[in-house]
Amino acid sequence: MKEIFNEIAQNFGTPVYVYFEDILIKRANIVKKVFEKLNYLPTLALKANNNPYLLRILKNIGFGADILGEGEFYAAKMAGIDSEYIVWNGNGKTHKQKEFMLNNKVKYINVDSVEEFEYLWKEEENLNLFLRVNPDIDAKTHPYISTGLKKHKFGMTFDQASFLLEKYREKISGLHIHIGSQITDISPFKEALEKTYKLAKKYDITKINIGGGWGIRYKDEKELDLNRLKNELTPILEKFDLVISEIGRFIFAPAGFLLTKVLMVKKSEQKTFVVTESGMNHLIRPALYGASHEIEIFTDNSTRGKVDVVGPLCETGDFLARDLEIAVPKMGDLLIVKNAGAYGFSMANNYNGTVKPPEVLVKKDGSLKLIRKAQTVEELFNTCILD
Ligand SMILES: Cc1ncc(COP(=O)(O)O)c(C=O)c1O
Repeated sequence: MKEIFNEIAQNFGTPVYVYFEDILIKRANIVKKVFEKLNYLPTLALKANNNPYLLRILKNIGFGADILGEGEFYAAKMAGIDSEYIVWNGNGKTHKQKEFMLNNKVKYINVDSVEEFEYLWKEEENLNLFLRVNPDIDAKTHPYISTGLKKHKFGMTFDQASFLLEKYREKISGLHIHIGSQITDISPFKEALEKTYKLAKKYDITKINIGGGWGIRYKDEKELDLNRLKNELTPILEKFDLVISEIGRFIFAPAGFLLTKVLMVKKSEQKTFVVTESGMNHLIRPALYGASHEIEIFTDNSTRGKVDVVGPLCETGDFLARDLEIAVPKMGDLLIVKNAGAYGFSMANNYNGTVKPPEVLVKKDGSLKLIRKAQTVEELFNTCILD
């Protein structure tokens, strides 16, 4: 591992997002296999990762795209994903976006609310509209990535869905559920599906989109048991004639690493801070919801200590990890943040006028390929107007 990251740092500089094609394909094939006996359309949640080169690799093994908005549509098209395999999500769609979807023949549209249905869709014919139901189920994950409780902004209640189905049954093709992300228990998935199936049966709905949310092991968590998931969900899912999924994290996270460098090791009275080139601008998950990522530091120093790994930005919340027990690195050492392939680059930002790092792929044959250039400072400001 260390050698390849050294080589990447030498060839492309740091910070840089690094992806491994073999891991990506392996994870995607696992997702494909879980429901392979069903009429199954697996799609990639582009919110987790929208690099068109990576998307194209996965499109070539049978994946469609779950998108939100024109930007992700553009990335899907760059990857060569046909509109036939695109699902459009979101809880705030506009008329302009509706026209865009219709002009571009986006095949599946998830409708988030009664209000949206009545505002945008009630006059339309022959669309594949899926109602997103909110089953009021605790996904037992972080509150910021939990979406299936009544108090959350997503989806409609079963009563609201029934109201639409009573009135507009012939315009509605399917039901959609997505109860949250990084879920490692089977029971919330099963409970949500059982509840949704009851509604589907009542109205003779034969298409379902089960969303994403499959959890991985970041540090201490257990990974979702896919054999159990398959065994528990298949008896219900096989009653549908189309099953769509929208998986992001499970496929992308373990395939991606953030490779960055130690700028400074700074001691205060209470703490040792390892200041790196990357903070919440490159990987915001620790700052946004206290996510823990495993970090490996490549150093020849053997003295261990407790450190906070922090970024160089002007925020106390600008950290990658806190209270890590590690061999304390020195200035210039490299480190990798693991499981950074999902919600890593796609959530990166330009805080403090910083630019997003490049992305590099380690191909199956071991060769390296730049798949997104670093942003430049000029790009950040070329939309600004002075006169
Ligand atoms: C509607 C929807 N589908 C799919 C996903 C992807 O979830 P995950 O990356 O956990 O698979 C999300 C993300 O939360 C989502 O909001």
